[in-house]
Amino acid sequence: MTKILEARSVVKEFGGIRAADNISFHVEEGEIYSIIGPNGAGKTTLFNLISGFLPVTSGEILYKGKSITGRKPHQLSRMGICRTFQLTTVYPMQSVIENLIIGQSAGKHFDMFSAIFRTRRKRRAEREAIERAHDLAEYVGVSNYKNLPASALPQVAQKQLTIGLALATRPELLLLDELVGGVNMEETETIIDIIRKIRDSGKTICLIEHKMSIVMNISDRILALNYGEKACEGASEEVCANDVVIKSYLGDKYAAVRESDL
Ligand SMILES: Nc1ncnc2c1ncn2[C@@H]1O[C@H](COP(=O)(O)OP(=O)(O)OP(=O)(O)O)[C@@H](O)[C@H]1O
Ligand SMILES: [Mg+2]
Repeated sequence: MTKILEARSVVKEFGGIRAADNISFHVEEGEIYSIIGPNGAGKTTLFNLISGFLPVTSGEILYKGKSITGRKPHQLSRMGICRTFQLTTVYPMQSVIENLIIGQSAGKHFDMFSAIFRTRRKRRAEREAIERAHDLAEYVGVSNYKNLPASALPQVAQKQLTIGLALATRPELLLLDELVGGVNMEETETIIDIIRKIRDSGKTICLIEHKMSIVMNISDRILALNYGEKACEGASEEVCANDVVIKSYLGDKYAAVRESDL
């Protein structure tokens, strides 16, 4: 197994708060790796550090064995790391297809010369981008809405489009931050199926998720955080049986159920 991502003793401080307190973990190529933890545990912070949106206070982050600590988001995007944000981030006024065209240019260099003279090469690139936008719409299941503005889509379709946007940059590692918040069970299944399909196509997925039913269902391994610290890491059963996870994340209700089971 190859490590695609590795965090070594990563620390992030905000004033007096340690949002990441000496976190080490790795993600293997081709796996679905989930990060769980209560609100404020430091999950999004970890994504911000990995994707270059925030600098680490100390520690190191490696991608495919090379240090990426201190790199900027657009550099990391070009290297194959793409993340989604906790709140859906589509371009609301643009159509689905326009969103997926814009998404492809994220992190790309803007070429003033060809923009002005609209070279043949540029026209071909534009045609290819439109074709690919249609393919992406199909892939994530939003092709019925192709020409609608993104804001007019049902919530689950906006999430599907968010995934399409993330895929538009051809990432190898996708960081998905709480995709299924606010969608019902059936819609959740739709998202799970897409995530599995992406993994089966050879990409690696790192997922932040609150819904334990999803986490248990699709994760190869899980990292549980609590107050910025690593509470535990392992397969679903292992993490579920961890006392810190039960108390801090699943809550006293679950702890009570578990105790009464004994
Ligand atoms: N840019 C920031 N500036 C200051 N403090 C921050 C910043 N980002 C996060 N924090 C703090 O760091 C801690 C971890 O926040 P983070 O957003 O990473 O948690 P989370 O696990 O993603 O929570 P949630 O489940 O609510 O999304 C919190 O105490 C938060 O207030
Ligand atoms: Mg968060």
